[in-house]
Amino acid sequence: MKLINLFDYEQAAQSKMRASFFGYYAGGAGDEITLRENRTVFDSIKLRPRVLIDVSHRTLETTILGHPTALPVVIAPMALAKLAHRKGEVAIATAAKKAGIIHCLSTLSSTSLETVASVGAANWFQLYIYKERGITTRLIERAAAAGYKALVLTVDTAVVGVRENLLRTGFRPPRGVKAENFTEFYGAKAALRLPAQFSPIDFDSSLTWDDLKWLIANSSLPVLVKGVLRGDDAKRAIDCGVAGIIVSNHGGRQLDTAVAGIKALPEVVAAVGAQTEVLVDGGIRRGTDIVKALALGARAVLVGRPVLWGLAVSAQKGVEQIFDVLKRELDIAMALCGCSSVGEIGPDLITE
Ligand code: FNR
Ligand code: LAC
Repeated sequence: MKLINLFDYEQAAQSKMRASFFGYYAGGAGDEITLRENRTVFDSIKLRPRVLIDVSHRTLETTILGHPTALPVVIAPMALAKLAHRKGEVAIATAAKKAGIIHCLSTLSSTSLETVASVGAANWFQLYIYKERGITTRLIERAAAAGYKALVLTVDTAVVGVRENLLRTGFRPPRGVKAENFTEFYGAKAALRLPAQFSPIDFDSSLTWDDLKWLIANSSLPVLVKGVLRGDDAKRAIDCGVAGIIVSNHGGRQLDTAVAGIKALPEVVAAVGAQTEVLVDGGIRRGTDIVKALALGARAVLVGRPVLWGLAVSAQKGVEQIFDVLKRELDIAMALCGCSSVGEIGPDLITE
């Protein structure tokens, strides 16, 4: 089968991966209504292109938190990439470095943050705040020491969402695929630190905005929050001193029937867009989706599952191909919208 778009890679990955591993990646929470809406809302947004503009020279480059990037795309943090391929996060980071885009490593990566850092990509580190605060501070120290450029605190996971497909398939990673960043704290038991089992033991459901202030005060790196879906929460995050906001519903894996990120984006941009950079994720699969997100005020988007599909299909090369598809589609979408730079993508391109 010819792999032309990101949906082709999803199909190819499904045919290649063990069903329970694919299910962990592909699945969402509850009835997967938000998972589906992350796509259907993008499809419902229509563009009104400008015409007769010279777009013979185009650039897709921009900056995110002042960091230069070849595309307005960041790789979303995703746990246990080695379920897709034994080279896991190292293959993803290597492809990110080659593509010149930022890679956000999940705290639940199946490769240690230090090993991933040795690839030399531009990395962010995503974390949760655990009941055991010492684990959080130790991870922050390690990320800073390993040269990570920013921290991303995920705030939509007071508990892990109800992932019925995990219950149905009895998902368990194979021996050797575990949350490697936690071997320092749990030793061999890190293998037991699986996302689906993580919540009762380790996530801290008592977190408040004071804990975000605590994290920012204890971090030498800029801190973004990931999982905000409201303007009032975005304002509170700014008051705490965040460096950026990622509008996200965790790829539909947390609260089912939560609003699609792209639908929540305008409210967050209206609330804090003048004070900080706002990114969005969830369902980004086409170049036109990136145009729509930027037109609605996002600085950049995060792309999740497609990166894992590319990894499953052909490791680093497959991830590179995912970026090539997005780059090609974004370039064409910008040309057809009359934009020769990312900065020219504006709200006038969206129909009411
Ligand atoms: C995730 N996501 C996620 N988010 C996070 O903050 N920490 C994490 O460890 C994970 N782990 C994770 C694993 C897998 C398999 C998936 C699919 C997703 C959510 C991720 O960062 C992002 O918000 C969504 O995946 C974006 O939606 P798309 O692009 O996958 O549709
Ligand atoms: C997930 C958790 C690990 O979405 O963030 O699987």
